[in-house]
Amino acid sequence: MNIVDQIKKLKKEKNAVILAHNYQLPEIQDIADFVGDSLGLSIEASRTDAAIIVFCGVHFMAETAKILSPQKIVLLPDKNAGCPMADMIDAESLMALQARHPDAVTVCYVNTSAAVKAYCDYCCTSANAVKIVQNILLNHKDKEIIFIPDKYLAQYVSAQVKHDFIIWEGYCPTHAKIMPENILEAKKLHPNAKVIVHPECRPTVTSLADVVASTEGMSKYAKKSPDMEFIIGTEIGIIHRMKKENPDKIFYPVTEKAVCPNMKKITLEKVLWSLEDLSFEITVEPDIMEKARLSIERMLKIV
Ligand code: 13P
Ligand code: SF4
Repeated sequence: MNIVDQIKKLKKEKNAVILAHNYQLPEIQDIADFVGDSLGLSIEASRTDAAIIVFCGVHFMAETAKILSPQKIVLLPDKNAGCPMADMIDAESLMALQARHPDAVTVCYVNTSAAVKAYCDYCCTSANAVKIVQNILLNHKDKEIIFIPDKYLAQYVSAQVKHDFIIWEGYCPTHAKIMPENILEAKKLHPNAKVIVHPECRPTVTSLADVVASTEGMSKYAKKSPDMEFIIGTEIGIIHRMKKENPDKIFYPVTEKAVCPNMKKITLEKVLWSLEDLSFEITVEPDIMEKARLSIERMLKIV
C-alpha cells in the first residue's frame, strides 16, 4: 500500500480528520479533508466530530484548535513546526506593556502562543482584524489599543480604521522577504496581472497591491475575479491551491524566496507517523486554556 493509502486507511480507523493550512506542501494539501486559512481552520476544528485532528500547520494553529476543542486529540506531525513571529512576544513582556497602558484594550493576532492569548481581550486573524478593531471602536472611539505581535499587520489595520495603535516590533520573516521592488518588477513583466498580497507584508508592499487579504481571501478573490493573471505576495505554498482551483488562470509568485520553512516541516511520512503514534499531542494548561479561549470566542462572536 502506498503512503497516501496508508494515511487514508489509518485516518478512517482512528476517526481522524486532516486539516492543512494553505502554505502546506502540495502533497499535504492533496490529502487534507480541509485546506484553509487560520480562521477557517479554527472554525473547522471546532465543528468536526472526528476524535482526532491532525493539524498540518504550525504550533499556534494546532494550539488554537485544541483550545476550541479541548475534548479532542490534536496532533502536530512535527513538534518543531513553530512560527517565529509568534515567538517574538511572551506573556511577561506583554504584561509589562499592559502595565504601562492600564486602560488599553489588547488585540492579539492569532499568531501568538496560548500563554499570550490568555492576557488578551480579543484575538483576530488576518481575515477579520479590521472588523474586530472597528467593533471595539464602535463603542469606545478613543480607546487605546495594544496590537500584537505583527507591526506590519498593525500598521495595515491602523491605516484602515484610522486609529493609532500601541504596537509590538514583531514581524513575519517570510513576508518580510517580499520587497516593493519585487512587486514593481513583477508588474513590469506581467502588466495585466492583478497584485494580491497578505497584510503581513511591509506597508511599502501593501500600498502597491490591488487587493490585500488573508490567504482565504486571496484564494476567493482569484476564483471570483474575471482577471486571468495574478501576482501573489505571500508564502508560495498557496499557489498550489490557486492553480488547482483555477486551472485556466496564471499565478506568479512575487518572489520564490517567500517560503516559510516551518510550514514545510510537515511531510507525508510525518503525517503517517503522527496517526500511528498519536504524536505530537498538543496540550495546554487548563487555566491558560480557559483564559485564552475567551479572546478567541470574542473574535468568533464578532465574525
Ligand atoms: P492566514 O490566516 O491568512 O492564513 O495567515 C496565517 C499566516 O501565518 C500567514 O503567514
Ligand atoms: Fe509564521 Fe510567517 Fe510562517 Fe505564517 S508564514 S507561520 S507568520 S513565519
